[in-house]
Amino acid sequence: MSDRTTGPAIETSGLVKTFGDNRAVDGVDLTVPAGSVYGVLGPNGAGKTTVVRMLATLLRPDGGEARVFGHDVVREAAEVRRRVSLTGQYASVDEDLTGSENLQLLARLLGHRKPAARERAAELLAAFGLTEAADRQVKKYSGGMRRRIDIAASILNTPDLLFLDEPTTGLDPRSRNQVWDIIREVVAHGTTVLLTTQYLDEADRLASRIAVIDHGRVIAEGTPGQLKSSVGAGSVHVRLRDPHRRAEAARILADALAGDVQLDADPVALAARAGAHGSDRGAAEQASAALAALAAAGIVVDDFSLGQPSLDEVFLALTARTEVPA
Ligand SMILES: Nc1ncnc2c1ncn2[C@@H]1O[C@H](COP(=O)(O)OP(=O)(O)OP(=O)(O)O)[C@@H](O)[C@H]1O
Ligand SMILES: [Mg+2]
Repeated sequence: MSDRTTGPAIETSGLVKTFGDNRAVDGVDLTVPAGSVYGVLGPNGAGKTTVVRMLATLLRPDGGEARVFGHDVVREAAEVRRRVSLTGQYASVDEDLTGSENLQLLARLLGHRKPAARERAAELLAAFGLTEAADRQVKKYSGGMRRRIDIAASILNTPDLLFLDEPTTGLDPRSRNQVWDIIREVVAHGTTVLLTTQYLDEADRLASRIAVIDHGRVIAEGTPGQLKSSVGAGSVHVRLRDPHRRAEAARILADALAGDVQLDADPVALAARAGAHGSDRGAAEQASAALAALAAAGIVVDDFSLGQPSLDEVFLALTARTEVPA
């Protein structure tokens, strides 16, 4: 398919969806390159699922445009459907059927003949570590098994574009890792993945690019590295000898770094951003000035580090920014 390798997988401009007077999606512009994982990150109610549902042709946009591999999601919905697959937050397998029956049924619906359907089901069950649970009803699966059978169902026919809407929410670390491996595998076979998540570490590990959405708008977009550097070059972490001097240390850091200081649960720890936009000094220079100011006040620092902010810090900084009225 030529349109799979040329041009972006998804392009939206000014995409809007309203529910009553709630603009759930409020003018979203996205360009998702083909062949990688694209992360859509946002808090509850940000509009992630609504964007996905419009792209998957399940919901009609109220404004703007969206194209999937060059095909308009409204005017060429059938073309789009042929290329995409969706694993929703609330997925589509039949609870009363076994894992194997579900996959065979779906494979038959996709036009595989019976022996081929049986073979494909067995292959996927093995790939997803579900062989032992193949003949158990899906309603008796654990959350992690359920998520894996959902993804297996959505890649029966290798789609060009796979929507994964919060595929790991509520999973334990081991199951999350398994799902991550599956996602990497799917992408290695040429599928583009649009992944929505509330977990920043997940986006950080899997996604080549990330859009952060809040209140139905894209508030930041870029590679994980670009997003991190957009909110400041560095994150300063300090541990004090004496917890009683922490309030004083926080004031000194806030002054020296011209920004907010976070007090960690640990009573001797403080964290702050350095090198934020608008400052004419680099992060390292600011951080060393801050350390000098602490020393001058006679506050003993036991441990100090200057690193890239985590995506969590980025996310908090970005979403806090949008709460300020424009
Ligand atoms: N079918 C609907 N009818 C009315 N309002 C809706 C409908 N679907 C979503 N909304 C509203 O649209 C907004 C965005 O919802 P959406 O489900 O897209 O958020 P989300 O980012 O996926 O959140 P979550 O992380 O909780 O899944 C919310 O205010 C929600 O209440
Ligand atoms: Mg959602």
